[in-house]
Amino acid sequence: MKLCKYIMALLAICLLPAFAIAQSPTGQTGATEQYVPRLSDIMSTAQLRHMKLWFAGQAPNWDLAAFELRQLKDSLVEAASLYPGIPVTSVTTMAKPVQAVADAIEAKDGRMFASTFGELTVGCNACHQSVGRGFIVMRVPTASPFSNQVFPPQSKP
Ligand code: HEC
Repeated sequence: MKLCKYIMALLAICLLPAFAIAQSPTGQTGATEQYVPRLSDIMSTAQLRHMKLWFAGQAPNWDLAAFELRQLKDSLVEAASLYPGIPVTSVTTMAKPVQAVADAIEAKDGRMFASTFGELTVGCNACHQSVGRGFIVMRVPTASPFSNQVFPPQSKP
């Protein structure tokens, strides 16, 4: 495996699938028949949701925030179920901050949203550290790159 990665890095022609954190996805008996997203792709999607969630909460657009939180949660669940090599505790510790953000959204409480979003982000980094990816550091976003999406709620027609 290490050799494969090495060769891949050198030649970029290794035909074997790239393995994220030295694991292969599970539960795929007919692995060739079903597309299994790479862990880093699931995470890149989580990053997008994390960012949108923040700007939805800032708008504030609570319906959108609730939607983005659901998407983010689904990404984390997907990562944990497809890649069981991730330490269980690093996954389960996310449940609390996710619920706290959900409560803030439910209460439409901007202040609570900001603080719970911070806790959620700490959770992202805690897992990254626990799996030797401490160099992937998430933070509360500062500027939205989503100029093609309107975040404030629109008045109903
Ligand atoms: C339970 C563990 C775990 C949690 C929780 C977690 N991550 Fe990750 N994340 C990983 C692992 C493992 C990788 C490295 C994947 C790899 O090596 O291919 C990663 C990689 C990433 C990357 C890099 C992807 C890339 O290709 O550049 C981003 C961005 C990321 N995570 C965002 C997040 C965000 C945002 C959260 C919180 C909402 C989060 N992660 C929560 C385990 C986790």
